[in-house]
Amino acid sequence: MRHFTSVNDVTDIQQLVALARELKKNPLQNSELGKNKTLGLIYFNPSLRTRLSTQKAAHNLGLRVMDMNVGSDSWTLEIRDDVVMDGAASEHIKEAAAVIGQYCDIIGIRSFPSLNDKETDYKEEVIQKFIKYSGVPVISLESATLHPLQSLADMMTIEELKTKKRPKVVLTWAAHPKALPQAVPNSFAEWMNKAEVDFVITHPEGYELDEKFTKGATITHNQDEALAGADFVYAKNWSSYTNYGNIICKDKTWMITEEKMALTNNAKFMHCLPIRRNVIASDAVLDGPNAVVIQEAGNRVWSAQAVLKTILETQF
Ligand code: CP
Repeated sequence: MRHFTSVNDVTDIQQLVALARELKKNPLQNSELGKNKTLGLIYFNPSLRTRLSTQKAAHNLGLRVMDMNVGSDSWTLEIRDDVVMDGAASEHIKEAAAVIGQYCDIIGIRSFPSLNDKETDYKEEVIQKFIKYSGVPVISLESATLHPLQSLADMMTIEELKTKKRPKVVLTWAAHPKALPQAVPNSFAEWMNKAEVDFVITHPEGYELDEKFTKGATITHNQDEALAGADFVYAKNWSSYTNYGNIICKDKTWMITEEKMALTNNAKFMHCLPIRRNVIASDAVLDGPNAVVIQEAGNRVWSAQAVLKTILETQF
């Protein structure tokens, strides 16, 4: 594996999940693997889990870590090609990525979408330009359209908790006051479509995700029908893909409550976090025995460590 930007970069998903589970049992088994190598973590957007879990994973492998917030710690970057740079941006991504590649052996990039221009966002210009100009392996720390480190941790969590060979996994939309990216649901769909699960997506009309990621899933606008018999409920808001970046439904009845969870097969409740309480899910669900969001967030360490270990072993 050279880069990790989507499920398509992974040769054997089950093997990667098994590796993450193995690392969880014995975190320091490869504590010299990254010795004298440097991981650069470059953030265009805020983070709690991704920043800390990836640093922890890198330290477990003996990697040095440098992190930088673009714009506040560094110059503001121009991403577009062929522009006269007489505006706010002081440095072009061509030089910045190439320079960071001189200092780092592996680079992680977090770069959210604008939610204004679908075509540009879905081209993934930032991460693709880091791949092109840095010359080193690049890991997505959540891009404009995907969040594969999160999805790997999600898949690992389902593997740890499932009580049947082929569980029913439901991804449900819930209303949110802000327009959010489609990266987490796109990515979760992409990974679940390759897992041994019955995968159902439920959302209001107009919230269809890009078929490139959801093809193969059962999709319904009836949330209760989707939740019936579910073994895992994964709640997430996203803004409209078709009416790009807009909020077109504010229906609060999509929030996950104890009543909704009662329709399921005693399902585990998942969310990538951060979550707005009593907006996406009720306090009772989040504080209840079936919420596994903390275990899921904890698994972000092993997800990142499995990816970094694989890159270190195959690329150096
Ligand atoms: N789930 C997740 O990626 O969390 P952060 O945005 O805090 O990194």
